[in-house]
Amino acid sequence: MTKPLRGEFTPPGDKSISHRLILMSIPAEGEMTIAGAADGDDVKTSLKMFQALGGEARCSGARLTLRGLGGRIRTEPGRPVELNCGNSGTTARLLAGIAVGLPGVFVFDGDAQLRRRPMERLAEPLRRMGGRITATQGGLPLTITGGGPLHGIEFVNQAASSQLKSAVILAALNAEGPSRIIEPLPTRDHTERLVQAFGGRVVQAGSALEVWPGRLTLVPEINVPADPSSAAFLLTGAAIVPGSRVTARRILLAPGRTGFLQVLHRLGAEVSINLEGDKPEPYGSVTVATRGRLKATEVPAAEVPSLVDEVPVLALAAAFAQGTTVFRQVRELRLKETDRLTAIRHQLGALGVRVRVEDNDLFVTGPTRPLTPETLDSGHDHRLAMTLLLARHIAGGRTPVLGEESISISYPSFKDDLAGLTA
Ligand code: S3P
Repeated sequence: MTKPLRGEFTPPGDKSISHRLILMSIPAEGEMTIAGAADGDDVKTSLKMFQALGGEARCSGARLTLRGLGGRIRTEPGRPVELNCGNSGTTARLLAGIAVGLPGVFVFDGDAQLRRRPMERLAEPLRRMGGRITATQGGLPLTITGGGPLHGIEFVNQAASSQLKSAVILAALNAEGPSRIIEPLPTRDHTERLVQAFGGRVVQAGSALEVWPGRLTLVPEINVPADPSSAAFLLTGAAIVPGSRVTARRILLAPGRTGFLQVLHRLGAEVSINLEGDKPEPYGSVTVATRGRLKATEVPAAEVPSLVDEVPVLALAAAFAQGTTVFRQVRELRLKETDRLTAIRHQLGALGVRVRVEDNDLFVTGPTRPLTPETLDSGHDHRLAMTLLLARHIAGGRTPVLGEESISISYPSFKDDLAGLTA
C-alpha cells in the first residue's frame, strides 16, 4: 500500500455551528465575535444571506463580528427578497424556519443540486404553524410570505434530520404558544444549545423537546471548534493505511457528531480522545492510528444520525476490513448533495470494492486490492470528492477525480492537509 499518514492537522471550524451562529444573528439582538468560523463556500452563503437581509459583518483575520438584526431586516417595499442559497441545504432550511417569522416575501433558490433536494417535508410543519409557503414540485424555488401569526405545533422528526428540527425550532421562537418536537432518534442538537446560550427557552424531556416563543440575544464571544465531519477523512485515512498515526486538533466532540470514531474503533483502529474544553460544546484532540488488520462491523440505524455525513468515507474504510460491514437504513443518503448511496456503489465499485445496496441497507465487503480506474467522479459532491481523493491516495494512482473542486464547499485546504500528512 501507499505512504502512511503521519502528523497533526486542524480542519476548518465546524460547519453546522458556523451556519447556526450566522443565521441566528438575523432574529437575535446584540453583537457577537466568532473565532474560527468555517471558511468553506456553504458558510459563506449563510453570511451572504445575512448581509442580503441587511446584516452587518466585519472580518478580521479568523474573527468575524456580526451585529444581530433583531428581526429588523432590510427589504424594498413591494419587492420579494431573493435568497439564493447556492449548494447549501443547511442555509436554505434553517433560513426558511427564520423567514416565516419575518415581515416580507422571500424567494428561496439554489444551484441545480439544491433544487433537486426535498423541501416539502420542511414546508409541511411550517405550514401547520401558520406559515405561508409554496414549494415548486416539492423543492426550490420556494416562496415564503412571512410575518403572519404562527402557532405552536407538535412535530415528529421522522426523517431524523437536524435541519428540519432546527427550522421548526427557529420558527417556534416566533409562535404564539409552545411547540413540541419528538425525535425517535436523536440528531445533532447545536440549534437548541445555541437557543439556550442566547437566552431562549428550550427544554429536553426524554425524546421530546419543548420550545417556547422568545427573543434571542447574541453572546459577545464564541469560539467554534474544528469540524469532526471534515476531520473524518484524514482520520479514516490513518485508520486504513498501515503505519499511520494522525492527530486532529480542537475537534468538536459532541456525541451527535462523533459516531464515526466509534465505528473506526470497532473496525479495529486505535482511537484516543483528549478532551480539552467544553465551550461552546466539548472539544479536544483526536488521534487515530492503525493497529493490525481492520475487521467488518455493523452500523445500526440508531447510530446513523451521529455519522450521517461520514458514511462515504466509512464505506471506504470498510472496503479495507475483513468481512462484510453493514450500514443499516441509510436511505437519507439518497437526499444529500447527490444520491450518495448510488454514488458509493458506482465509485467504490470502480475501485474494485464489493458494494451492494438492499432495502436501504449498504453492504461493503473487504478487504479490497484497489484498482486505479481511468477516472473517478464525485458528481460535484464535496464529501464524495474527499472520499475519492483519499481512495486515490490509498490506491497509489493518479486517477483524476472529476468535480474535486467541490471540496471548497466544506474544506478548501483538504488537499494541502493530505499532502502535509503524507510528505
Ligand atoms: C446538518 C444536518 C445533516 C447533515 C448536514 C448538516 C446540520 O443534514 O447531513 O451536512 O447542520 O443540521 P440532515 O439534517 O438533513 O440530516
